[in-house]
Amino acid sequence: MNYEEKLEKINTIVNSPMREFKPDALMAIVARIEKKHPKSKGVYERMKNIIPGGVEHNLAFNFPYPIASKRVYDCFMETVDGVQLLDYLMCGGPIILGHNYTPLIEKMINVIKDTGPCHGITCDYEYLAAEAIQRYFPSCELIRWYQSGTEADMAAIRVARTYTKNKWIIKIGGSYHGWSDQLTYDMHVPGTKLVESHGIPKNVFKFVDSVYPNDIEALRKSFKEKKNKVAAVILEPLGGESGAIPVHPQFNKDVEELCRETGALLIFDEVVCAFRLVKGGGQEYFNIKPDISVFGKIIGHGFPSAAAIGGRRDVISVVAGGIAGGAKKAYTGGTLAANPLTCAAAYHAIDFIEKENAVERAGKAAKRLSDGLNKVFQEHDLPWFSYNHGAIVHFHTSCVFGLDITDPKQAPSLKERKEFMGHLGAALIDQEIISVAGSRFYTCMKHTDEIIDQTVEKIEKICEYVE
Ligand SMILES: Cc1ncc(COP(=O)(O)O)c(C=O)c1O
Repeated sequence: MNYEEKLEKINTIVNSPMREFKPDALMAIVARIEKKHPKSKGVYERMKNIIPGGVEHNLAFNFPYPIASKRVYDCFMETVDGVQLLDYLMCGGPIILGHNYTPLIEKMINVIKDTGPCHGITCDYEYLAAEAIQRYFPSCELIRWYQSGTEADMAAIRVARTYTKNKWIIKIGGSYHGWSDQLTYDMHVPGTKLVESHGIPKNVFKFVDSVYPNDIEALRKSFKEKKNKVAAVILEPLGGESGAIPVHPQFNKDVEELCRETGALLIFDEVVCAFRLVKGGGQEYFNIKPDISVFGKIIGHGFPSAAAIGGRRDVISVVAGGIAGGAKKAYTGGTLAANPLTCAAAYHAIDFIEKENAVERAGKAAKRLSDGLNKVFQEHDLPWFSYNHGAIVHFHTSCVFGLDITDPKQAPSLKERKEFMGHLGAALIDQEIISVAGSRFYTCMKHTDEIIDQTVEKIEKICEYVE
């Protein structure tokens, strides 16, 4: 599906009344969940006493209450109630070999036995894993490890400012780059600016700006207003929220050109794209050489504390470790960063991803799923639609991300459209499927044709509930 087709379909959805489930169908879904998942409800009740809101995983669905997992394997999640879900959450992205992929787990058990989780200084896995990343990301002449995508994004903008001596950071509206103070800005729905920025003093955003997705003229204008004193443009190569807001095929190239003209750095947030879109992420896909790349998630294949930035030698050099002694360095750190466990996981996971052709297999599954979904949506005369990029499948139903919040006709529907994604998440759980936030599926190499076809059949049943 090309860019224009996606836009047309998004416009149809956001300019029409939202398609909801029949009230009795929704009530029946909730009743079935209550019956089938009593232990999850018990977990939630207990969680509420000690964990704020009873849930802390942003990407899972929470209606009517969150489901608790007992174990995961291959492409399945078994809940505490013993229900086996088809898993398309994939831990929010990091899993491409399948959960608990035995050869990786065995390697990791040996690493734990040998080194324990952490020893605070360098080990062989640190450079081996960095070299493995570099094989697929040749733009990364130097690589530095961090502990989460949020932290790596935060480091990336600090490096850009230190290197260029400029202050402005420009992001693309609707994109997600973690929740650090300065990047909790204009997230999810383009134009929402400070909507999610509670607890952050406004002056933190003095040198942060955003422009509407795909609007290169707005970006040029923003550069001009700032007299080109821009440290970096940071973007998700596929478009905001991993491609939920489709990127124009020319946009990344245009941004690259603008950065080259002005001396601003180009930061590609590859947290989702690396080893999921294609092995070499957004930069391989769009044939672009960013100055800084940000990695997270899949880089440790789900093992904790996994993230990194990489890029041009002269740029990334400003983040060298040790006490700076007055040298102009971007100060960053991390007690658990580059621990042997994370680096070993990165090194071995990349090795297994290569040997198993994992990204290609997961991508094939994603395409089959997205094609299947489009077929059933059409058969049920729904305006809903799906597309995939590599092993990332989007399916737009209420299409929150497509809303233009400056349009007085569209903006008021934001709440009900968001709520519907919760209803859809529940309908998926009812069909024993877990998705990413009711609008995305991540596939892995264990999603066979048979499993994908089963999934499509289940989603067809959900279409029958629509009014
Ligand atoms: C594109 C992107 N960047 C950054 C992050 C933040 O990563 P983390 O959750 O590891 O802090 C995410 C997380 O979903 C992401 O999708």
